[in-house]
Amino acid sequence: MRALILGRGAREHALTWKFSRSFRISGLYCVPGNAGTNELATNFPEISETDAAALINVCRRERIDLVFVGGEAPLAAGVVDALQEAGIPAVGATAAAAQLEASKTISKDFMRRHGVATAEAAVFSDIDAFEEHVQSLERPVVIKKSGLAEGKGVLETDDKDEMIAFARTILQDDQILVEERLSGYEITIFALTDGTSYTLLPPCADYKKAGDGGTGPNTGGMGAICPVPWVTPELLEEVRVRVVNPTFAGLELEGLQYVGVLYFGLMITDDGPKVLEYNVRFGDPEAQVVLPLIKSDFGNLCEAMVEGKLADFPLELSTKTALGVVLASPGYPGSYRRAIPVDELPLDNRKELMVFHAGTTTDGDRVLTGSGRCFTVVGLGRELLEARSTAYAAVKNVRFEGAWCRSDIGGMIFGQ
Ligand code: AMP
Ligand code: GLY
Repeated sequence: MRALILGRGAREHALTWKFSRSFRISGLYCVPGNAGTNELATNFPEISETDAAALINVCRRERIDLVFVGGEAPLAAGVVDALQEAGIPAVGATAAAAQLEASKTISKDFMRRHGVATAEAAVFSDIDAFEEHVQSLERPVVIKKSGLAEGKGVLETDDKDEMIAFARTILQDDQILVEERLSGYEITIFALTDGTSYTLLPPCADYKKAGDGGTGPNTGGMGAICPVPWVTPELLEEVRVRVVNPTFAGLELEGLQYVGVLYFGLMITDDGPKVLEYNVRFGDPEAQVVLPLIKSDFGNLCEAMVEGKLADFPLELSTKTALGVVLASPGYPGSYRRAIPVDELPLDNRKELMVFHAGTTTDGDRVLTGSGRCFTVVGLGRELLEARSTAYAAVKNVRFEGAWCRSDIGGMIFGQ
């Protein structure tokens, strides 16, 4: 099997690594890839992951059997639809299904239509109606931009002037949701789907804030664990009944089924699990901790997905725990430095330790940073503590100027 992975983040490095361990793989390619994927695959850094025509050309030239799309941009741009039309099997959502991630008003309406547990919300396109609603609020809310915002589209405040100022900017070219503020703790559940059936992967938790103890600004995620020891089988069953089953029934009813990954971002409240958001892809850094726990051959798993045979696939999972710590560039999540030379990296990925690159490039023999989140260091262990000590011991060996990370990944924090 010749596989092509789209993306340049640590999530895509983890996917490439997972494919590289498959006995089925005879060729591995990345568009655009990074310095980490370059060790395992052939990168095509000059091609854009959203350029469907260029991707189809590469697939034909390199005789690609399967494309795995990592992130939301190519999905929302319709890359999977174009690949399908060209007869190239792909794992990833269609543009229509990607709207469930790209538009919070569309996903909220979808959840309402299909009885999926979620927070109450009102939608506004007009500042006057928004102001009137906000002035009459009696309970805490969060204000959300409808469209994609890379983690910066949610305002959590009780200050009405701040809400109105935030809304004014957003309403210039988007809609706003005023959503009931939920309290509890957050988890992420991934479903793999072949368009007719689905399989759930073990639950993950993502540490979203920049600072220890869940303080500071929001980020794309500063660390993650999988599975989550405080999630019980009873809770997972409730998630299945109240969230996952009605979602898949809704996708089928509306003809939105696809081959790929569906991400349920959940708040576990006193009133049960509620959906905060859908994403139509793996999370980053969640992918870096969930993928190492898949024991089945990844090439076989992806083949079962594109062939609609997931229901018959004997998915084998590890009983270990994975913990990932993100090393970020100075300044992140604000404006941050790029192209910082990396002085030291732990040696090759081992059985219990992986270092996944994000957006890195090379200059001669040196690795240079390229994004805000630069590496995810993942430790595996029999339980959380062992995974945590493996990951943090290796974090010290990833050295570049100004590198920083959270020191409390793996702890149970409300607000994460
Ligand atoms: P979202 O992009 O919708 O996942 O929101 C990003 C983050 O904002 C979530 O991970 C939560 O931490 C927070 N958030 C979103 N919606 C709510 C809500 N209704 N109540 C409380 N916190 C929320
Ligand atoms: N870590 C959250 C996301 O990938 O959306």
